[in-house]
Amino acid sequence: MSVTHALEADADVLRRQDPELAEILLAERHRQSTTLQLIAAENFTSPAVLAALGSPLANKYAEGYPGARHHGGCEIVDLAERLAVQRAQDLFGAEHANVQSHSGSSAVLAAYAALLRPGDSVLALGLPYGGHLTHGSPANFSGRWFDFVGYGVDAETGLIDYDQVRTLARTHRPKAIVCGSIAYPRHIDYAAFREVADEVGAYLIADAAHPMGLVAGGAAPSPVPYADIVCATTHKVLRGPRGGMILCGSELAERVDRAVFPFTQGGAQMHTIAGKAVAFGEARTPAFAAYAHQVVANARTLAAHLAAEGLVVTTGGTDTHLLTADPAPLGVDGRTARGRLAAAGIVLDCCALPHGDARGLRLGTAAVTTQGMAEGEMRTVGALLAGVLRGGTDPAVARESVRELVAGFPPYPG
Ligand SMILES: Cc1ncc(COP(=O)(O)O)c(C=O)c1O
Repeated sequence: MSVTHALEADADVLRRQDPELAEILLAERHRQSTTLQLIAAENFTSPAVLAALGSPLANKYAEGYPGARHHGGCEIVDLAERLAVQRAQDLFGAEHANVQSHSGSSAVLAAYAALLRPGDSVLALGLPYGGHLTHGSPANFSGRWFDFVGYGVDAETGLIDYDQVRTLARTHRPKAIVCGSIAYPRHIDYAAFREVADEVGAYLIADAAHPMGLVAGGAAPSPVPYADIVCATTHKVLRGPRGGMILCGSELAERVDRAVFPFTQGGAQMHTIAGKAVAFGEARTPAFAAYAHQVVANARTLAAHLAAEGLVVTTGGTDTHLLTADPAPLGVDGRTARGRLAAAGIVLDCCALPHGDARGLRLGTAAVTTQGMAEGEMRTVGALLAGVLRGGTDPAVARESVRELVAGFPPYPG
């Protein structure tokens, strides 16, 4: 059965059982396949991952870990979790993997729970510079329970200021240093962070939610040899199901496992863990390595074209799947730009910019690359985007061009 037929069969079941929800599902499928997905944190999972997510493993309760569950009947799902763990360890060269975190945020919460006590001091990238909510936002448990100090990026270059990291670490003697961001477009120097952490006796936590798929494909340096704990999401460039994972050395394995269950989570989501196993299996193939490198090539091309169109691209480009840019030179702020682009069927996010209060745009190429787009299409996208922002192209006209473009690259070809 082709992928389209399989999706249609699923939709048919829903149509019969719950037409109201079926409408919503089909509308979202239509939206995803007729607009341009440039949200840096999104991707299209494979049909095999979707199959695992929609499988009867969703029915199984499985508190605990393989071989040590609180529920009966776990002998089959244990195989799925063991497979996911083994594949994650092999893929990233880690001594230990925990694949139960329900999300990236849950993984970070568990990492803190494994290493810290409430009130401990933590050094992390400040939120205005691309730190995640879990890196000390007052609206998040992290900012409420720990004493976060934020480092920044250089206002001119947009690059992490490693000298400032060292100075702040010496001053505040944090219990942990977090490296990782929602919007940093360059490779992170994990060795430099390790050196600072060692100097002040801090744990190093890499929140590699964004680049972990590039790491899997050999297109970005790995934090695994340097960080005490690596947290990641499985749904970004890695192209797996929505969820999280944690990697660490064997000396922290028990603490990490207990921090996930029973400290911060209940029953494992076995269908998602099965989907993670599928994604890890896919990520070890040469095809995925080629994909990861193409993701970066596409982001670089898009960055270069946006810069040529007059946007100010942070750090002057990217090493990864994402880039951020200030559209102000085109006469529009980030928030207005996002709205105008949405009307044109170009879906992306706003983000903070290193040099001030104005909002910029964050774009990523993971999803469009999965669809098969390459450098040529990125040039078209750059021109379309700039035309809409300048006001030279009517969003309704651009929307037609977007529709034509994406029609040639269906996320789930039949
Ligand atoms: C660096 C970083 N950490 C944590 C997360 C949280 O992931 P989730 O949304 O799955 O909780 C994200 C999500 O974008 C992220 O970019």
